[in-house]
Amino acid sequence: MHAITMRAPGGPDVLTWAERDDPEPGPGQVLLDVAASAVNRADLLQRQGHYPPPPGAPDVIGLECSGTIAALGPGVSGWEVGHPVCALLAGGGYAERVAVPVGQLMPVPAGMDLVTAASLPEVACTVWSNLVMVAQLGVGEVLLVHGGAGGVGTHAIQVGKAIGAMVAVTAGADDRLARCAELGADVLINYRDQDFVAEVRKATDGRGADVVLDNMGASYLDRNLDVLARHGRLVTIGMQGGASGTLNIGALLGKCASLTATGLRYRPLDEKAEIVAAVVEHVWPLIETGEVRPIVHEVLPIQRAADAHRLMQDAHPFGKVVLRVR
Ligand SMILES: NC(=O)c1ccc[n+]([C@@H]2O[C@H](COP(=O)([O-])OP(=O)(O)OC[C@H]3O[C@@H](n4cnc5c(N)ncnc54)[C@H](OP(=O)(O)O)[C@@H]3O)[C@@H](O)[C@H]2O)c1
Repeated sequence: MHAITMRAPGGPDVLTWAERDDPEPGPGQVLLDVAASAVNRADLLQRQGHYPPPPGAPDVIGLECSGTIAALGPGVSGWEVGHPVCALLAGGGYAERVAVPVGQLMPVPAGMDLVTAASLPEVACTVWSNLVMVAQLGVGEVLLVHGGAGGVGTHAIQVGKAIGAMVAVTAGADDRLARCAELGADVLINYRDQDFVAEVRKATDGRGADVVLDNMGASYLDRNLDVLARHGRLVTIGMQGGASGTLNIGALLGKCASLTATGLRYRPLDEKAEIVAAVVEHVWPLIETGEVRPIVHEVLPIQRAADAHRLMQDAHPFGKVVLRVR
């Protein structure tokens, strides 16, 4: 098969489409003929040498894909060769073939093409596991989504609205905020010139956010605690503003609030399988009725993975960047 390989860690130009050995599906795995993959921020870090794959995962970049089942590994039942699927991966998506544990397979939502389906696994699993399984976001609560115009953010806005929350978002430009509003966001905050704590308080009669979905980490820690309502839940999924900060425990304690940080890629197989099953049960029906839409900024051929990384790095895509493999 061919895959995107790296000569050495570095800039986008180290990404090269080259021949690799085909993966073998192990026990409990299937082999997929990949139709498409999608770019995640973590891929850029892996390319720079900062985000190694977990033990046993392929060293090829790519945390999600869609495709058709080409072969079943030992002990697999309930799936058939030829089935169209999409999948959450620990690596290996930027390739013509990948082996996937069956617990990470999802049927393609009814009516959706395979290329679009590649944009869903990472955002759907990240958003559902954090907003619902961790933070237990409820009807009528206030959700603040940082980075509302990104891949995760555009999905989180829609899921938050489907749950019945009031959704506030931050983004770095007014035109991106306007597009967040089209997805249902109620409160629009330009993080470059507005204070999100003040804006969320103003929009909620001083109450603040019940749940904050945070991509920034250290640089937003104090203000995220500040914006939380009593019994608020801060769920951190990214460290775009740094990994290490000082936690004001008093601020958490005074509000009976909580802070949780999760990362999908390193979770054990049984936890991933639980998340994937919940997504298929709860999110796929929202996608099939059109209440939640996949937001794809651009589809590029996999051979242009370097351009896709530049786009993600420099051009602020709205939603996901997808890589077509076949
Ligand atoms: N923990 C996990 O399991 C997991 C899984 C998937 C993703 N993630 C993380 O989640 C984050 C979002 O991922 P993604 O795929 O959606 O990436 P993305 O599409 O590149 O989005 C990144 C977002 O960050 C926003 N941003 C930049 N500076 C900001 C600031 N100062 N305040 C608020 N927002 C800011 C950008 O907004 P503008 O473009 O409008 O400036 C953009 O919307 C990343 O940090 C990623 O690593 C974590």
